[in-house]
Order: sequence, then C-alpha cells, then structure tokens
Amino acid sequence: MARVLVVGGAGLLGQYVLREARRRGHEVIGTCRGAAPATLAGPWVGIDLRDGAALRQAVRDAAPDLVVNAAALTDVDGCEARPEEARAVNAVAPGILAEAAGDANADFVHASTDYIFDGEGPATEDTEPRPLSAYGRTKREGEVLVRKAYPASLILRLSAVFGWNRVSPKANSVTWILQKVEAGQEVPLFTDQRVTPTYAGTAAGVALDLWAAKARGTFHVACRDCLSRVEMGHAVVEAFGIPGAQLVPVAMASVALKAPRPRAPCLIVRRVEETLKRDMPGFRACLEDMRETR
Ligand SMILES: NC(=O)c1ccc[n+]([C@@H]2O[C@H](COP(=O)([O-])OP(=O)(O)OC[C@H]3O[C@@H](n4cnc5c(N)ncnc54)[C@H](OP(=O)(O)O)[C@@H]3O)[C@@H](O)[C@H]2O)c1
Repeated sequence: MARVLVVGGAGLLGQYVLREARRRGHEVIGTCRGAAPATLAGPWVGIDLRDGAALRQAVRDAAPDLVVNAAALTDVDGCEARPEEARAVNAVAPGILAEAAGDANADFVHASTDYIFDGEGPATEDTEPRPLSAYGRTKREGEVLVRKAYPASLILRLSAVFGWNRVSPKANSVTWILQKVEAGQEVPLFTDQRVTPTYAGTAAGVALDLWAAKARGTFHVACRDCLSRVEMGHAVVEAFGIPGAQLVPVAMASVALKAPRPRAPCLIVRRVEETLKRDMPGFRACLEDMRETR
C-alpha cells in the first residue's frame, strides 16, 4: 500500500485516479479548490494552485509515495482570456509540485495535453511541440518545468478527456453531446478537428500501471481512434441508441473561438501499448462501458 496525493482530485481525471488508487488499496488524499465534494470520500485538502507555499506544505503534510497532478485550467478560451492565471496553474504550479514531490522522495505523475501540438498530423512523444494557444503554451511550459524540477517525473499527454463526472455537473467532450441530443437540441460539431479522445478511467488505470511498472518519461494515453468531432457525435448517438439526434456539422472557422485549435493533434499510443503490453481501447468500446455504467 502506498500513500497517494491526487492534486485536482475533484476534476474529471482526478476523481478517476482517486477512486482507482483507492480500489487498488492505496491510502489516498485529494486536493480540491473550494468545498470538498459531497459524492467522493476524503480526506480532502483545500488548495488553490496559485498558492505555491500551500502546495509545498500539502505535499510535505501528506508525506506521499506518489503525487498525481490532475489539476489544470482546461478552459481553452478562458486561458486565452486569462493567460496569467493559465500560466500560474498550468505551468508554475506543476513545476512547484514536481519539486516538492522530489524533495519528499515521492514519485510524480503529471497530466498534459495534445494541444501542445500544432495538429498538422498525428504525434508521437518525440514530435516537436508547437502549441497554438495560451492553453497549449502554458501546458507545454508545465511539461518543461516539471521535467526540469524532477527529471524522473512521468508525464501523460491526454486528449478530449471524457467519462461520467460523478462529482460535478461540468460536461466533457462526450457528456456535452449526450446532454444536448437528449434535450432535443442541435449539436454543432466540428468536421475539421480530429482527436484521439481519452477515457478518464483508462487514463487513471494507465497512470497507476505505469507508476507501478516504474516507467519514466512521457507517454501518450488515448483511444486508438482518431476521429473528427462530428464522427465522435455519431458514435455517441449510436452507442446510446438515441433516435432523431440533430448533429450539425460545422467548420471551426465558422465559430468565433477566442483560441485557435489544432486541426488534428491525434496522439499515437504505441509507446504506452508497448510498455504496458496491452492495446489502448477503441472509442466505441469506451462508450459501451459508459452506457453500461450510467
Ligand atoms: N479536458 C480535456 O478535454 C483535456 C484534454 C487533454 C488534456 N487534458 C488534461 O488532463 C488533465 C485533467 O483534465 P480534466 O479533464 O480532468 O479537467 P477538469 O475536469 O477541468 O479538472 C481540472 C481540475 O483542476 C482544478 N483547478 C483549476 N484551477 C485551479 C486552481 N487555481 N486551484 C485549484 N484547482 C484548480 C479544477 O477545479 P475547479 O473545478 O474548481 O475549477 C478541476 O477540479 C489536465 O492536465 C488537462 O490539461 C484535458
């Protein structure tokens, strides 16, 4: 049994890491901003990621074997509007956490994103990052600061993270589509952005498996399918058997987006598959799992 500190434990990824670590018999502490979640057992420590001293103290107090950073400012347009907050949360805080984990002799796992790429083609872990937005730039800086502060850290790059959010009403790339089609509303979906969505439960399992295997370095963690947003919509409608869904194909250029989006930052997952000796799931299999666990 290990002691695991999950920073951002109330976010989508964080709640899956927290539950999965607990299921595996670890002693788990979560950090959150604001009130402790009512639907997920603690202990919880309330921390704002912009408070570096509080972050360091939380790591010292937890005396963890593993720190997982699942917190980030994930609102891509919000990052464009508030670049200083984005940098503090997505770049500076991960560096501080990595350093604090190293000082505490704990391992460190950090989540990053496909938006560090320009999306001009599928990306391996060795593809040169070229972020297009403040979100992508600050997440990339976070990777660099983490690596500098604690070279043995594990960095997992995810894409369009989805799954049931059992903690908050915040929607994600799949539940947003479901909510709209089930309310009988039109769903505008990009035809010209392709991604490899990451199932939150898959990412949580992979994070803990790579850590247990003492893997080091950077790994892409996602479904095997590289799909346009509108193809994702069709797959969701099919998996959940929703008749009469109004999926409206739209081009990215037709929408007033504050931050530019990469066109096809699909993540190649060969490294994680070879390391863990298992395939990453297909998108449809993950949707089936969601349907069965609703
Ligand atoms: N979401 C995606 O589609 C996506 C795609 C690729 C990669 N990723 C990466 O995957 C990781 C997990 O993302 P997710 O989808 O689980 O995001 P999420 O559901 O938005 O969770 C992020 C968590 O970070 C917390 N947070 C943000 N700012 C904070 C601050 N100043 N102080 C304390 N906590 C703060 C949020 O708290 P509040 O709820 O209080 O804001 C939330 O609990 C992140 O590293 C993200 O960059 C996500």
